[in-house]
Amino acid sequence: MGTVSLTIDGKTIQIEEGKTVLHAAQKAGIEIPTLCHHDQLEPYGACRLCMVEIEKNNRKKLVASCCYPVENGLIVRTKTDSVDKIRKMLIELLLSNCPSGEHVEMAKKYGITQSRFKQADTPESPCSLCGLCVRYCNEIKKEHAVCFVGRGVDRAVALVPGVSDVCKTCRACFSVCDAGKIVYLVDMVQDISCPPLRPMKKQ
Ligand code: FES
Repeated sequence: MGTVSLTIDGKTIQIEEGKTVLHAAQKAGIEIPTLCHHDQLEPYGACRLCMVEIEKNNRKKLVASCCYPVENGLIVRTKTDSVDKIRKMLIELLLSNCPSGEHVEMAKKYGITQSRFKQADTPESPCSLCGLCVRYCNEIKKEHAVCFVGRGVDRAVALVPGVSDVCKTCRACFSVCDAGKIVYLVDMVQDISCPPLRPMKKQ
């Protein structure tokens, strides 16, 4: 596989073909915030916090750096006014859905301590909906015990009935959970002890 050369925030970086702009930035020590990215998982591109500006053929556009492949001669800027503006709005939206988690520290770096958006109802335990637990369970553990349910504002992470018994002992996805939602769900299931099912009497 060949090597490509690109520029990020004025720094020239050589990196293998097939890597992403996020990989190239990390290689150069340039920090780009991420939420749904994990090096062991397939690129997902859901949270858009890793947004950067790219310039190609004299045209500029915003892309998710965790999904965008490196190209020879690409010019990348990670801190433009439009990148910052969008990123701040995404962080505020995230805080309105999920007021706790590691992303709160990220928010502080951008000077955001509260969201101007209405706080969503999060009765039990907040969730950033990054999807890392779902993907970790599917892609790494191959258990398919964690899933998303619902759409739009009702979207939530849930354990798959009948399969998620494995979660009580596995707990491998706890390390990728930003806000602690999956820990809450697994503990809740563990606390519910059902009496063993009795075989039905034949009529
Ligand atoms: S980290 Fe790139 S879209 Fe979430």
